[in-house]
Amino acid sequence: MTAPILRRLDDLRALTTSWRSRGEVIGVVPTMGALHQGHLSLVEAAKAGCDRVIVTIFVNPKQFNNPEDLAKYPRTENEDAQKLLPFDVDAIYVPDPEEIYPQGFATTVSVAGLTDVMEGEFRPGHFDGVATVVAKLFLQTQADRAFFGEKDFQQLMVVRRMARDLDIPIQVVGCPTIREPSGLAMSSRNLRLSPQGLQVAAQKHRIMNDLARALQGGAAFDPLAASARTALLAAGFAQVEYIQLRCAETLDPLSRADKPARLFVAAWADGVRLIDNIPV
Ligand code: PAJ
Repeated sequence: MTAPILRRLDDLRALTTSWRSRGEVIGVVPTMGALHQGHLSLVEAAKAGCDRVIVTIFVNPKQFNNPEDLAKYPRTENEDAQKLLPFDVDAIYVPDPEEIYPQGFATTVSVAGLTDVMEGEFRPGHFDGVATVVAKLFLQTQADRAFFGEKDFQQLMVVRRMARDLDIPIQVVGCPTIREPSGLAMSSRNLRLSPQGLQVAAQKHRIMNDLARALQGGAAFDPLAASARTALLAAGFAQVEYIQLRCAETLDPLSRADKPARLFVAAWADGVRLIDNIPV
């Protein structure tokens, strides 16, 4: 059945209020659209764990530190609705911009600490934009569970912290990264890669896996990271913003993988900024 596309908060509330009055568990999958298998895996997880599922699609201007990135972000609403058909979701919320940022909007949700590093360091203001919009989407949808990808591991941690700190009664569920057969993490930004760019991008996962394997043997991180940086540049990446090993619980930096850790990489290929992370 075709899910209704709702653009007004009042229309969404009418639905969620009736669901809640019947005690139905509501799941939300927040997205910026240009849906791919990564997003759809979250929808599947939500369907499996909830009575009602809302997918939100909103390209959030506040989280783009780079105006060109915002302008080039793919917008494919009709295709997105088609891709959601087989999942039989209960609503697709594509809010009019003024439902999220009405005239005079003046509040920012800012999570300290976790946002000082990596994406927070290289994309100033990004996580304030994410935390603000996600807080609003949590409150607007009144969802009991929210589904996020480990693809954006730091975002997942920031959102969890925000919901806990603000007592928003929602369970934040993390789901594994879905990859292309080449190992490339699926991303809406991959649409902007040329065939050559795709080949370059596809090598990142192999280089990360090699590094992770060496770390599992107990080796020190810094020299391995330097070799991985060289390997990424040799593979055709134009720039490597960071390669970091961090504690999977706190995001504190690690000099070797002596506790559950995560390896994070951000690099540019073909004019596109690509991030990925894997457990170590
Ligand atoms: P977007 O990039 O559209 O991603 C929406 C959700 O899909 C995020 O939770 C992201 O981690 C997840 N996702 C993306 N690629 C994935 C993959 N290959 N495997 C598994 N999950 C994947 O992240 C955002 O939008 C925005 O910041 C948002 C949270 C919607 C706030 O605006």
